[in-house]
Amino acid sequence: MKHTTFATASAVSLLLAGTALAEPQAEVLHWWTSGGEAKSVAVLQQEFADNGGTWTDMPVAGGGGDAAMTALRARVLSGNAPTAVQLKGPAIQEWYEEGVLADISGVAEAEGWGDLLPEALAEHMKCEGTWCAAPVNVHRVDWIWANADLLEQNGIEMPTTWDEFNAAAEKLQAAGVIPLAHGGQSWQDATVFETVVLGLGGPEFFRSALIDLDPEALGSDTMVQVFDQMRTMRGFVDDNFSGRDWNLATAMVMNGEAAFQIMGDWAKGEFIAAGKVPGEDFLCGSTPGDGFLYNVDSFAMFTVEGEDKIAGQDLLAKLIMGPNFQEVFNLNKGSIPARTDVALDDFDMCAQKSSEDMTASADSGALLPSYAHGMALRGAQAGAITDVVTAHFNSDMSSEDAVKMLTDAVANSM
Ligand code: GAL
Repeated sequence: MKHTTFATASAVSLLLAGTALAEPQAEVLHWWTSGGEAKSVAVLQQEFADNGGTWTDMPVAGGGGDAAMTALRARVLSGNAPTAVQLKGPAIQEWYEEGVLADISGVAEAEGWGDLLPEALAEHMKCEGTWCAAPVNVHRVDWIWANADLLEQNGIEMPTTWDEFNAAAEKLQAAGVIPLAHGGQSWQDATVFETVVLGLGGPEFFRSALIDLDPEALGSDTMVQVFDQMRTMRGFVDDNFSGRDWNLATAMVMNGEAAFQIMGDWAKGEFIAAGKVPGEDFLCGSTPGDGFLYNVDSFAMFTVEGEDKIAGQDLLAKLIMGPNFQEVFNLNKGSIPARTDVALDDFDMCAQKSSEDMTASADSGALLPSYAHGMALRGAQAGAITDVVTAHFNSDMSSEDAVKMLTDAVANSM
């Protein structure tokens, strides 16, 4: 008996030798600092702690993550990368090419990620065939959020075309309501812009212009119309929009100061965190036109030394893809699970719509990566486009000049 115990114990310790005996540690860099975001990331912190991990939080405020990515570069350059980083889209592969990402294939294969994720989504998590990131969700970007009372009081339905949107906005403006809550930060301008590209141009045009960077599409009359619509929408924004954070724009819709916001469904996380009910207090509708712009949040692990940190990375990767985490996190975050096997019964009507539209868009070839949220292009190209969008939105530049500037900027960024 004694012998067996000893044999088992030594076998186990042999098995666990190395990482698993270490106490999991993780320093996690992320930009989830708004009300809904903070509630969501707390779910992961709690699960990590419940599983014996010690979490060191490194939040870098700033919607869209621009400031977080600047902080990340500084840390990596100084040879002191955080253990886990909120990172997504082609930036994952860009960091992999720098030789600084850890391979998490061991966890991914043990947990069967290949069978649990839609193929297109799994591709974003891979670097030359190995797994280099763990996905937490699928956010949809092309949403309009509305204050339900304001629409009802003004006899307005959720717009289904951009002309309807403009007509509704004019009516609201005449009634003294700010039509569009917007924060003048370049990533928010880009968010609105890409929904207009999708809506006015359609999925094929979106693909040519913002994924393939086809000069003809970028320089087309359709793109002129897109900038015309951006100019029209500039007129629906209040005077104090410059620099406003996205969650403060959401709050304007919540408290009846403004009627609409065009923003990804992390905005729903704000409404939910404030106790607002979809379909009653606020409405969700996809922005006019076909298609679905996806934005998948994920975490990449950076190469670090120390068994405790490596154990932390393994634990974190495993928890992120766990079914409980994927459900609870996404109920808070406004997104839907990345795993396809999580039931959506407890999710609201906006999440159900997101899931249905995602499936339909995938079938019709209209499921597209968001350029504004770093899913479609490498940093240099995305940045070149966003600079033009912002320069146009904040000046009286003509649509023709914007289109010319856009084609030049993209050509120069290649
Ligand atoms: C997005 C990110 C979302 C949300 C948003 C605002 O880029 O994918 O999770 O946090 O920024 O910060």
